[in-house]
Amino acid sequence: MILPRRFPAGLGLPVLLAAVALLASACAPDPERREREFMPDMYRNPAVKAQDEFDYFRTGSAMLVPPEGTIPRGFEPYPFGIAERDKAAGLENPLPVSRRMLETGRKYYNIHCMICHGVTGSGDGQTTLVHQEAGMPVPPPLYSQSIREEWTDGELFHVISMGQGQMPGYRDRISREHRWAIVHYTRALGLAADPTEEDLEAVERLGWDAREMDRPERPERPRDLQSIYIIE
Ligand code: HEC
Repeated sequence: MILPRRFPAGLGLPVLLAAVALLASACAPDPERREREFMPDMYRNPAVKAQDEFDYFRTGSAMLVPPEGTIPRGFEPYPFGIAERDKAAGLENPLPVSRRMLETGRKYYNIHCMICHGVTGSGDGQTTLVHQEAGMPVPPPLYSQSIREEWTDGELFHVISMGQGQMPGYRDRISREHRWAIVHYTRALGLAADPTEEDLEAVERLGWDAREMDRPERPERPRDLQSIYIIE
């Protein structure tokens, strides 16, 4: 500790002792004990946390369910029932295919679908493998001839939205744009399972490398909602 050269005589030692005492008190022996808060600012925030108990609401929970019959602003409900795949068949994918779009589709496929359908769409996801013996159905491959040649994009979108058999629907869990991006990616899985010479040449020409797609460059922070859906 450096004291000013012209420190009033006789004050040096008391000041030093006081400083040492102050420093020592900073390390409280009991880590559980809260020290004095001089500026608590927002340490003790009055806001309720999402999963707290909260008597103010009748449910006793801080989480509220949206009032029945309401939808979030801008949300478009999915118009078809589970048995109406034929009606959805004519839906067209509104999103253009691009490398970034496939990366988006891949990201959301890997988050939501891979656990059952596996990385390549063959049906060997971790959940399927682990629970197969307990009766979990093995999903059919997403690159089957029928999906590649007969299913329209609208039908894929329909099954992702409404589910099929044991598979749950994702219309309220994955945004519309992300579901369409997954449709594009499902098509890519189909191509990857049985590529033609031309496909392979095109990949080589473009210099694409699937391993690279695991670590896509972070895009610039998107400005509008549309690009959040497509890029993130
Ligand atoms: C919990 C496991 C599970 C998850 C998660 C899951 N699926 Fe499925 N999926 C299945 C099963 C099981 C089937 C077979 C259902 C049936 O026909 O009985 C299936 C069927 C399908 C089919 C129809 C295949 C056919 O030939 O009939 C498509 C397409 C599909 N899933 C796509 C997806 C996509 C895309 C996702 C992610 C958004 C997804 N699935 C998430 C289990 C799952």
